[in-house]
Amino acid sequence: EDQFAESFSLAGSKIVVTAGGTKEPLDPVRYIGNNSSGKMGIAMAEQAAQLGGQVTLLSTVPYISHLPNLTVERISSAADLLKRLLELFPKIDVLVMAAAVADFRPVSVSDQKIKKTSDNDHLNIELVKNPDILKTIATDKKNQFVVVFAAETQDVIKNAEKKLQTKNADVILANDVSRSDAGFNVDTNQITLITADKRPDNWPLLTKKQVAQRFWQYYHSLKN
Ligand code: CTP
Ligand code: CA
Repeated sequence: EDQFAESFSLAGSKIVVTAGGTKEPLDPVRYIGNNSSGKMGIAMAEQAAQLGGQVTLLSTVPYISHLPNLTVERISSAADLLKRLLELFPKIDVLVMAAAVADFRPVSVSDQKIKKTSDNDHLNIELVKNPDILKTIATDKKNQFVVVFAAETQDVIKNAEKKLQTKNADVILANDVSRSDAGFNVDTNQITLITADKRPDNWPLLTKKQVAQRFWQYYHSLKN
């Protein structure tokens, strides 16, 4: 592992990694969330920093950096994430979108904590679609290398190839989350790397740290 870390460097690369599930507020104390643990994004950020990259991690989960070149910012909702990425994206070299962005958010956020009342056995929450963050920032895309994680439960390759186009991504790291040993909230992942010009590359089942190491190695060899 140490030998690996010394075999190449990401020094000089400005990298933003997003991690965790977004939290879509309902009232001052409640939100709609998802099962993403943030582990994959955190591993991507840690490994990039270990390799000398200048890394900003935008995370919905708590994380304390032990490296001077890894800065952590807490974000919460998809709207927060979009706002911060619009600021950061023009100045960076690589964006890794590992965050599980909520597709929908509550239409209205109550100012006060929602009460249960004696005459209300049901509460209906209306949701509205969130903007697609990648599509939104793609309009500012210059030379940034955009990496997208796509979680699928079926037709993994076909769906991921579609996302490569629509999200203006350079590479999709697709994983089948219907498996219990890959994706959400576990320490391992089975990735298929998908690009526009090569056949899908199936990686073995790896720890998330190994996935991150393998990805940065791939990125480095592509750029050198
Ligand atoms: N993503 C995004 N903005 C959203 C939703 C998702 O930028 N509003 C990003 C995610 O961070 C991820 C990638 O898009 O990097 C793929 O997310 P995924 O949920 O697989 O794709 P969706 O476009 O949301 O499509 P669907 O959930 O319907 O499969
Ligand atoms: Ca989605």
